[in-house]
Amino acid sequence: MKSVAIKGVKEFEIKEIAEPEINHKDVVIEVTKCGICGSDIHYWVGGGPVGLVMGHEFCGKVIDAGDREDLKVGDRVTALPISPCGHCSACLKGNPQYCSETWTYATGLSLTNPGALTEKIRVRSDMVMKVPDNITDEEVSMVEPTAVGLHAIHLADIKVGDRVLVVGGGIIGLVSAMFAKMEGASYVAVSETNEQRGEKAVKLGVADEWFDAKREDTIPNLIAKTDGGFDFVIECCGNSAAVSSALTVVKPGGTVVLVGVATGPVTIPTVLAVMRELTVKGAIAYTKEEFATCIDLMATKQINALKFVDDIVGFEEVQHSYERLTSGQDDAIKILVDPKK
Ligand SMILES: NC(=O)c1ccc[n+]([C@@H]2O[C@H](COP(=O)([O-])OP(=O)(O)OC[C@H]3O[C@@H](n4cnc5c(N)ncnc54)[C@H](O)[C@@H]3O)[C@@H](O)[C@H]2O)c1
Ligand SMILES: [Zn+2]
Ligand SMILES: [Zn+2]
Repeated sequence: MKSVAIKGVKEFEIKEIAEPEINHKDVVIEVTKCGICGSDIHYWVGGGPVGLVMGHEFCGKVIDAGDREDLKVGDRVTALPISPCGHCSACLKGNPQYCSETWTYATGLSLTNPGALTEKIRVRSDMVMKVPDNITDEEVSMVEPTAVGLHAIHLADIKVGDRVLVVGGGIIGLVSAMFAKMEGASYVAVSETNEQRGEKAVKLGVADEWFDAKREDTIPNLIAKTDGGFDFVIECCGNSAAVSSALTVVKPGGTVVLVGVATGPVTIPTVLAVMRELTVKGAIAYTKEEFATCIDLMATKQINALKFVDDIVGFEEVQHSYERLTSGQDDAIKILVDPKK
């Protein structure tokens, strides 16, 4: 079957890989939609591991239900792409994101477990979730990134009336902004280096205002706007400039949640956190409950994740889509891949 695999720095190839074997334990799924994620972009930019088939945000139909007696052929499903051990103390407490094995065999993020940029995938049966009929395949493929934003906002613990800045208006930033409003934030701003994305954050209704992170007066403007700083800053980029800006515009005693992932060490002025007694928290992935909550919020129409989807492309257009998403000038937020397109 066809797959899209990393070939080198910023380079993909479409290549044949073996179909997943049925082992009556794991669930085999025919992929219907798969999202391109900002984390996948880090691997593509880095050029490796060569041969990696990415894609950890997906919707599909069950081909073989494995050991899941509650599933049948044809059921529409998604799955948590992570690989927690299931028996350590973190797993038993419902925090798989702390498990040391969570990323070892992650779907689409490890060579041993190809992701959904192909036609069929095999995933751990305990990670599979059936989805209701009233959410589309496109929405289902948005569950994973939506859950990332929900987890970050749960960690922030926003109170009604708080002021929140989201640094970075990619999909993770925008869903975080959306949930910050739902939690009762009275003012949500987004800072962006990409003007098109900044404007879009406001147009889509998730931010009250956006600020151009390239302008020198943005930091003083943000501080003046909030009378001394934001209650919470959700950092969704991971680079040094972005993390430093987050530490600068949060109020004394405020909280910065770091969601952006850096592939190397990042230089930041830690003195800002010391002198103003900031709380700095990391946020990684989600719990199973948060994943299920996102499915539920979509099914009950309390959130609309479809508004973040800009395009649906075939395998041939994946390379170009990555180029669009990294151009810094395109307003596309989320591009989905359809293996049948
Ligand atoms: N912690 C987690 O569980 C988790 C999960 C998924 C993604 N991520 C990470 O979160 C980050 C965001 O993901 P995404 O899919 O939205 O990526 P993305 O690349 O689409 O979005 C990042 C945005 O940040 C903007 N940006 C860059 N530098 C900036 C600056 N100095 N100030 C303001 N904006 C700036 C870019 O223009 C871009 O729009 C990535 O680093 C990704 O790896 C983390
Ligand atoms: Zn992702
Ligand atoms: Zn574990």
